[in-house]
Amino acid sequence: MSILDIQHLSKSYGGANVLNDVSFTLQASESVGIIGDNGAGKSTLLKCLSGAIKPDTGNITFNGQPLELGNPQAIREAGIEMVYQDLALCRQQTVLTNLLLGREINTPWGTLNHAAMRKLGSQALAKLNTDIPLNAVVGDLSGGQQQAVAIARAMLGNPRLVILDEPTAALGVKESAKAIRFIQSLTAQHVAVIVVSHRLQDVIDTTSRILLMRQGQIAQMFVTNNLTAAELSGEISQ
Ligand SMILES: Nc1ncnc2c1ncn2[C@@H]1O[C@H](COP(=O)(O)OP(=O)(O)O)[C@@H](O)[C@H]1O
Ligand SMILES: [Mg+2]
Repeated sequence: MSILDIQHLSKSYGGANVLNDVSFTLQASESVGIIGDNGAGKSTLLKCLSGAIKPDTGNITFNGQPLELGNPQAIREAGIEMVYQDLALCRQQTVLTNLLLGREINTPWGTLNHAAMRKLGSQALAKLNTDIPLNAVVGDLSGGQQQAVAIARAMLGNPRLVILDEPTAALGVKESAKAIRFIQSLTAQHVAVIVVSHRLQDVIDTTSRILLMRQGQIAQMFVTNNLTAAELSGEISQ
């Protein structure tokens, strides 16, 4: 069953077609990569999906319902969570505060229910098979751990689709490997995933299908099985 159905999305800025009639569907629990040169339209497509911008034409059906385009809150409530490249974490705050930001739990007396919040926070991290202390300050964590906090926070919204923009761009080899495992565990939890990255091997390692964008269009689709980064790289530069 398809969870996401994008139909004929177009967006232009001052006459330049940044997205030009983009259509694709994503199956429930499927993981898809989006690659392409700088300026191909990847970020614009993600922004249409998060509601940050409204496409000029086209529509998106999610989970059987039309998405309210250009409305980030409605889109999150529909079950789409974004993990931004800069992770958007509060670096001076603890892991727990970051995880539960905007999702605080109150006692019947209106005070914060710390026990329930700690339980929810540690469950979210455990689902990623990581045991980062809840009281650690986010700025003290490694890049991979911060990525885990950002992904766990997205998962607390119980999304059906998580979109990650350049999830390994800021990470070294070891930390990237961790981030890749976190992304793989989303698929294991039956969440659909879209990964945008210029690190082709990371896209291959985290997705089962890859869309190549060129000049605002989906130029090609690849099945990830047996694909090599060198083959992909050759296709991008054509
Ligand atoms: N707000 C904007 N105003 C004008 N042009 C834009 C705007 N956003 C993106 N563009 C242009 O659209 C094209 C695609 O950009 P983008 O979606 O960021 O590509 P990618 O993420 O693939 O590098 C680029 O040529 C960029 O300059
Ligand atoms: Mg971009």
